[in-house]
Amino acid sequence: MTTVDLWKQARERAHDSYGAHVGRSADDLPTPALVVDRAAVNRNITTMMSALEGHTARLRPHVKVQKSPDLALSQVAAGAIGVTVATVWEAAAMAAAGITDVLIANQVVGAEKIRAAAVLSRTVNLTVAVDDERNIAELSRAAVHAGSTLRVLVERDVGMGRCGARSVTDAVRLGRAVHAAPGLDLKGIQAYEGHCMLEPDPAKRRRFALDAMNTAAEVVEAFAAAGLPHETLSGGGTGTYDITGHDPRVTELQAGSYVFMDAFHGSLVPGFEVSLTAMSTVVGRHGDTVILDCGRKSIGIDFVLPPILGLDYVARYYAEEHALFDVDALFTADVGDRVRLVSGYAPTTVNLHDVLFVADDDRIVDVWPVFPRGADHHGLLRALS
Ligand SMILES: Cc1ncc(COP(=O)(O)O)c(C=O)c1O
Repeated sequence: MTTVDLWKQARERAHDSYGAHVGRSADDLPTPALVVDRAAVNRNITTMMSALEGHTARLRPHVKVQKSPDLALSQVAAGAIGVTVATVWEAAAMAAAGITDVLIANQVVGAEKIRAAAVLSRTVNLTVAVDDERNIAELSRAAVHAGSTLRVLVERDVGMGRCGARSVTDAVRLGRAVHAAPGLDLKGIQAYEGHCMLEPDPAKRRRFALDAMNTAAEVVEAFAAAGLPHETLSGGGTGTYDITGHDPRVTELQAGSYVFMDAFHGSLVPGFEVSLTAMSTVVGRHGDTVILDCGRKSIGIDFVLPPILGLDYVARYYAEEHALFDVDALFTADVGDRVRLVSGYAPTTVNLHDVLFVADDDRIVDVWPVFPRGADHHGLLRALS
C-alpha cells in the first residue's frame, strides 16, 4: 500500500461515510460537525496572497491548521510555493495528494520518522529543520541509504525558547555540519517567532517580531561570511504576516491560521473571515444558561474559549461533550436549535474530526477528509519504510 493509495482510501472513506450530506443544508448535519464556508476560505486565501504582493517573502502556508490536502491544494493553486507541516505524516499526506514542495518546520527525530523523510525526499522537494549534530548525522545516513537528497534549514531560536540553536556560533557549527554531510543540501535558516503570536498589543508584537528577525538575520550574515548557503529564511505566522511577511530579509512566510481564522488569531489580526465553524445543537436551556452539545472532544479550546459566531456571550465552561454559555433574553435559541461556534484554536479542532463539510451558502457541496489526524494515521509511515 503506497501513501497515494492511503490518500485515495481516505477520500473514498470520507465520501462513503459522509457523502450523503452533499446537497443538503448544513443545518441538517449531525452535530457537532465542522463546516467550512468555501467562499470565505477562498477570500482568505486571496487576501493573504495579495498581502504578500511586492514583498520578498513567498507564502508557504502551515497546513497543520486544517490537515486537509484538498484545501492545501487550493492554496498552492492560488500561488503558494508549497506547504509547511509539523510532522512527517503530514508531509506524507500532502505529498500523496500531489504537493511537490514540503517544509517540515520541525525536527525529525527517531529512526522510523527519519527513514520516512529520506524515502519521501526521493519524490518531492522535502526540507527539514535541524538543531542537533547527532540528528544531522542520522538524517545524512538515512538520505544516503535511501538514495535521496534532503534539504535542510538550520533552526535558530529567536525568542520562543522551543527548538533551535541558542547562539549564532551554534547555528554556524550546525550549518557547517549540514553542508559537509552527504545526502543533505543546506538551504538556509528557519526562525519561527511563535512567542510574538501571544502578544496582543500590535505595536509590541511588531517590535518583538522585528527583534526576532534581527536575531535570524545575524545567522544569515554569519552563514554568508562562512561561505555557507543561505538562500532561505523561513518563519512567520498569521499574527505576524504583515510584519515578518513584509520584512525584506524573509523569503518564506509560514502563516496558516489565516485560512480558517479562529477566535485566538481573530483577536490578533483583522482582515480575515471566520471560515470554519462547529455546528452544534442546543441540548438544554435553563433560564439564562444554554448548554450546547459541542465540548472539548469536538472543538479546540486553547488560548481562547470558543465563542458563538457573531455573538458576544462568553462561554462559562467547556466540558467533554458540553459547552455552557451565560446568555440573556436576547438569545432566542432553544432546545433543538442549531448554533455555530468559532474554534478557540483551529489546529487543535480539526484533528478531533474525520471530515470537514464544505458549504456554499450553507449547502454542503463536498466532504474533505482530515488527513492525517494523528501520528502515523492509517500507516502513512509504514508505507514509506
Ligand atoms: C513552525 C511554525 N510556523 C508557523 C506557524 C504559524 O502558524 P499560524 O499562522 O497558524 O499562527 C506555527 C504555529 O504553530 C509554527 O509552529
